[in-house]
Amino acid sequence: MKRKNTLILLSILASGCSSGHPEPMSQVIDRAFSRACEQTVFLASELKTDPLALPRTIDAQGRLVTSDSHWWTSGFFPGTLWYLFEYTHDRQILELARDFTARVEREQYTTDNHDIGFILNCSFGNGYRLTGDEQYRPVLLQGASSLATRFRPLSGVIQSWDIAPWSTRLGWQCPVIIDNMMNLELLTRASELSGDPRFREMAVAHAETTLKNHFRKDHSSYHVVSYDTLSGRPHLHITKQGYSDSSAWARGQAWALYGFSMMYRETGEKRYLQQAELIADFLLRHPRLPEDMVPYWDFDAPDIPDAPRDASAAAVMASAFVELSQASQDPEAARKYREAAQMQIRSLAADTYLAAPGTNGGFILKHSVGSLPDNSEVDVPLTYADYYFLEAMLRYKAAYPED
Ligand code: GLY
Repeated sequence: MKRKNTLILLSILASGCSSGHPEPMSQVIDRAFSRACEQTVFLASELKTDPLALPRTIDAQGRLVTSDSHWWTSGFFPGTLWYLFEYTHDRQILELARDFTARVEREQYTTDNHDIGFILNCSFGNGYRLTGDEQYRPVLLQGASSLATRFRPLSGVIQSWDIAPWSTRLGWQCPVIIDNMMNLELLTRASELSGDPRFREMAVAHAETTLKNHFRKDHSSYHVVSYDTLSGRPHLHITKQGYSDSSAWARGQAWALYGFSMMYRETGEKRYLQQAELIADFLLRHPRLPEDMVPYWDFDAPDIPDAPRDASAAAVMASAFVELSQASQDPEAARKYREAAQMQIRSLAADTYLAAPGTNGGFILKHSVGSLPDNSEVDVPLTYADYYFLEAMLRYKAAYPED
């Protein structure tokens, strides 16, 4: 395993550096953005004539798989276009970003799951941030109101999924997944936009409850915690997408790292920063984090080193590590986070993960995992890997322009 990882690492460090020096980060980022533009404009053109479709992945034959706006990933492609616009200021990309953002507008009324935060913040949130278009603002506020209907005061959480026959059979009552930390940014944004503190209060309550109940002693995160609807207390600690109830599902750890870093930025609450740093320590000290820092889909997958890698988890972590490197008050820790982000970006921008032009169905990154236990989307491109990869690079460039 060590030899294989070392070879991958050497090829990453060597890529683009004929002089023997690693390629400067500014060059890595320019190169990856240029590829991302080419791929994304092609992918958008494939969906021009289908005004309700949003890209999701490709199937085993390499054919594009789309979703409608209700699927949890629908906001990532519009968000990818917004990040490309931010980088290029290209008018054609702006038009595409507006078109694909409009495709998810109706999700502002969704109340049957928690994913409205992902969907609207990545699309309308970035659109509003970059253009100030006042038509985007009420959509964000309505979306936050819809998400707020899922707040359960007895437990102090936003319920992630509704109960279905399959989850009732498993005894679930009020399931909350660690991913839900990511939806809180829509709520803090809504308080900022409306002046109504209630959205922020719900976000803080959810973060507090998650801090208390979602982490193990080693600071890894459970995927799902189910709350008892009579007592309000957690009664099950389980998984849906991880290897086992006690394993560390890689993307779940990435959501936790990102979620607490983001909530520290939004609130200034030191305990959130501390939690993010504890999660970072768990990840960076983990003996099964490969040298190129693209994690296996689950840190406890039994077939490591043959288990699939998850580029999406690396992309989410890289973005969070940049934020954390700037937030940390410990210079040594900040340096470690910056280096981790750098390594993950370099790895994802190397040939192993970055799609060659005209391949990969137009998606930017290869080798992500959606849900391995469901045998769904294993070792494929995924829109959220692309979105967080671009976000990580934008953040890195803004934070460390000299690199
Ligand atoms: N929020 C679902 C996932 O991370 O797969």
